[in-house]
Formats: sequence, structure tokens, C-alpha cells
Amino acid sequence: MSKKNYYITTPIYYPSGRPHMGHAYSSIIADVIARYKKIEGKNVYFLTGTDEHGLKIQREAEKNKKNTQLFCDEISKKFKDLTKILNLSNNDFIRTTEKRHYKSVEDLWKKLEQSGDIYLDKYKGWYSVSDEAYYDNDEIEEKDGLKISKLSGSKVEWVEEESYFFKLSAWSQKLLDHYKSHPDFILPISRNNEVVKFVEKGLKDLSVSRTSFSWGIPVPKNQKHVIYVWLDALTNYLSALNYPNTTSDLYKNFWPADLHVIGKDILRFHAIYWPAFLMAAKLPLPKRIFGHGWILSDDKKMSKSIGNILDPIEIIEMFGIDQLRYYLIKEVSLGNDGNISLENLKNCINNDLANNYGNLCQRVFSFIKKNCSNKIPPKKDLSKQDKALTGKLKNDINILTNLIDKQDLNNYLKKVIEYSFDSNKYFNDSEPWALKKTDINKMNSILYSIVEQIKNISILLLPIIPISANKILDVINVKSELRVINEIKKENTLDISKELGNVEILFKKVE
Ligand code: MSP
Repeated sequence: MSKKNYYITTPIYYPSGRPHMGHAYSSIIADVIARYKKIEGKNVYFLTGTDEHGLKIQREAEKNKKNTQLFCDEISKKFKDLTKILNLSNNDFIRTTEKRHYKSVEDLWKKLEQSGDIYLDKYKGWYSVSDEAYYDNDEIEEKDGLKISKLSGSKVEWVEEESYFFKLSAWSQKLLDHYKSHPDFILPISRNNEVVKFVEKGLKDLSVSRTSFSWGIPVPKNQKHVIYVWLDALTNYLSALNYPNTTSDLYKNFWPADLHVIGKDILRFHAIYWPAFLMAAKLPLPKRIFGHGWILSDDKKMSKSIGNILDPIEIIEMFGIDQLRYYLIKEVSLGNDGNISLENLKNCINNDLANNYGNLCQRVFSFIKKNCSNKIPPKKDLSKQDKALTGKLKNDINILTNLIDKQDLNNYLKKVIEYSFDSNKYFNDSEPWALKKTDINKMNSILYSIVEQIKNISILLLPIIPISANKILDVINVKSELRVINEIKKENTLDISKELGNVEILFKKVE
């Protein structure tokens, strides 16, 4: 029996500006998986939140002439509001400035000290405030007179200060062993290879405290230092489960996490530092880290200077949240970078949602309203074609669940929308309107089968377009507790005693 509990996280966001499409993308991916796991019958815990410490945030607050805490309060709220706008099903929203998080980070720090993994020395090297990351000499290049990171392109500055170090070098082999014995720990496989290559070169000890600024969690017993923001931030995944109280139900039920969804830019922190910290603290490691690619706009990384930023909130206001969720999942293959554009978004809404799924529901429901007193007709003898239509989807359930478990959301969605396309075609080809006078039983069975298929497609679409799919399930009177994967496998589940609910146009075509 597979485990009943499922813990999934998004990265916690830097509240340093307006939420953008990359943030929306990370969150939507995790939400789709969380929702699928729920309808699969799992007890899901889904976490998101904001990452509020570090020099980047402190400087941003100074630039805005605001008290740092008040600055964080304001911007963290924008991200919390975004969870509503994106219709996320998160169970918690953690802020790293909360007391519960301080307790948890302090405890982890003490564990690392106790295990002998922390020592005091001096850091001399490059630091990128924008990435909150240390870089080696060979990772730096010069561009327009500025030193920048070759990896991220962001500006670096020279830092020399007293610092505590974590003995990361001592964990290289243990990390490599773990990657080898857990080939699904880092996905997609290309990211695993990238990490393995990096660790094989040998790891240097990691500076885990700073003394030149104060916006962070003080090191226990040496308040001159604040804890490195990534050690602080990564611990959020434990804080939300009441860590260090490891006897609490939340911790017992949900740690280790099943899946950390992250963007590829923060892979090193999650796939190297995080497991090393956890091993040193003798805590179990998460099961999987999935590093998704970048969302590009007009084939370029979105940036203010290029002026190609697509604002998720504006797009949702224009087209709707389900439309954006659907488009992002359909358009971008999860591990790769993916280009998005307004043009393609409009085409996707028209082709997949309005003309395909929306149209299928609309025309079948209107036909039933006109010809069957607005009730799903009873089926008599299902034909081979009727059975083939619904049977294929039922047989595919394991394949679909596997796709979700491999985080292949893109192919999952392609398959689901194909069922809708096939159902539309079946409705056209079997011409139920022509059967009304000649073979009413056949007409009824065709309609029953297509509505059953609409029900099953809608259940499968719930994780992606929850508002619209729920509306369709309302129309055909499917009880909310029955909107689950297990129901798809059953026969004779449609309620034929009630009239269909009101049908509204779900997806307006866009010009
Ligand atoms: N605060 C850290 C995460 C700490 S997790 C313990 C952080 N925050 S972030 O706000 O900069 O980014 C959050 C997520 O958004 C990351 O997964 C990042 O990869 C993702 N994206 C930001 N821009 C992106 C795109 N243009 N495309 C896709 N996702 C990208 O990193």
C-alpha cells in the first residue's frame, strides 16, 4: 500500500517586488500535483510562503525607505493574496519572520553545532545579493566592467568577514551515495546529472553566517552573526510541520516531504545544501526535488529592461485563472524552459478550452435539455463504440497517475484533452439527432456514454482548472465527495433522476 500522507512544497518567495509569472508558475505546478493527490485519496499537506530575511530584502526595504519588517509585511501580503488569485489549495502560508520558524532554525543550527559540523573562521570571496549565493572565482566573469556570476548573470560583490562555516566538504561522498541509491531524488534526470557533476568536483565548506548586516535570525550564543539566509529559508519546510517538536502529528505525518517543487536556479541549495544539512542533523531527507525550467517571454527571460514581462495578475484579470493555469501546464514541458506569449495563450483558450472541452459540454448539455427533458437519459445496451469511448479513459488511469508521479503534467494534460477531442468527434460521428426518431435507445446510450466521459474528463481536469471543472460536475449533479479518481473506474455512476443544472458559457472565445 502506498503511503497515505503527501507533503508538497513550493519555494518560499522573496517578497522583494511584485509577484511575476515565474512565481505563478512554480505555485501552479505544485497546486496541480497537490490537487491530484487529494482526489487520488491522499491526505495532502501543501505549503507555500515568503522568504523574508537576508541582505537582498534589507536593501530593498532601505531603497523603499521603509522599516524592514513593515516592508516584509506589506509585500508578503501581496504573495498571500496571490495564493487566492491563483486559486491555490495550500494548507499553510509560512513567513520566515514568524516565531515558529525562528524556533525551528535555532534548533537545526544547534543540531549542526552538536554534530561538529559548524566552525568559526573568516569568509573571503564573492557574494551575489540578488541570488543570496556565494560564488567561486571560476564562477565569476567580467561584463561591462562589472563582476557577475557566470551561472545567473547577477552582480557579485567581494566579501571579507568573520563567518561560521558548515563542513559541507565532509558530506560530498554521502551526497553522491544518496543520489546513486535514490535515482529519483533529483528530477528531471538532466538536473540530477548537473548536481552529481558539481559534487564530484568536491565541495567546499559553506559560509553559513554573516556579520555585516543584521536582518536575519541571530546565531544562538553569538548574536553578532545572523544565519545565512538559505539555511534559514530551507528550514521553512520543517517549521511548518512544528519542528523541532518531532512528536507533533504534523511532523510525524508529513516529514520527510514527498516533493519540493523548485525552479532550476535554486537547485544547488535544495539538492546539495539541504540534504547535507539534514544528514548532519540526522533528519530524514525529502523524497524528491523537482527542478522546473524557466518561463520565457518572446523566447527571452522576462526582464523589466527588455519590457517583456507578462504580469500574471493582469492576465488573470483579462482571461481568467483557469485559463492561465491550463495554458501554463499545456504549453511548458515541466523540466524544460518554455516560451509563453499572449498570442499562444489566446489560441490555447480558443482551441482547447472554448472549442474542445467547453464546446463538448455545451452542445451535449443543450441537446439533452432539448431532447431528453433536461435529464441524462438511461442507457440500455451500450454499443461497442460507447464502451470503447469510456473504457479507454478508465484503462488509462494508472498511466495518468504515473505521469503525475513523474511530474509530467504536460503529457498528462495532453492525454486528458485528447479524450475530450475524441468525445466531440464521437458526438459528431454518431449523430444522435438523427437517431431520435429511429433508435431512441441507441441515442440514449450514446448520450449517457458521452456524459460519463464528460464527468471523467472533468474529474481529471479538476487539478488544472478547478473552477470550470467543478461547474461542469455541478451541472451533472456529481456530489462533491464523489469528485475523485476512484469514481472514474466505476460504472453506472451518473445521476439520471435529476435535471441538469444551468449551463453557462465556460470559456469565452478571445479575439
Ligand atoms: N526565496 C527563494 C526560494 C527559497 S525556498 C527555500 C527564491 N525565491 S524567488 O521568489 O526568487 O523564486 C521563487 C521561485 O520562482 C523559484 O523556484 C524560481 O525558480 C521561480 N522563478 C522565478 N522566475 C522564474 C521564471 N521566469 N520562470 C520559472 N520560474 C522562475 O528563489
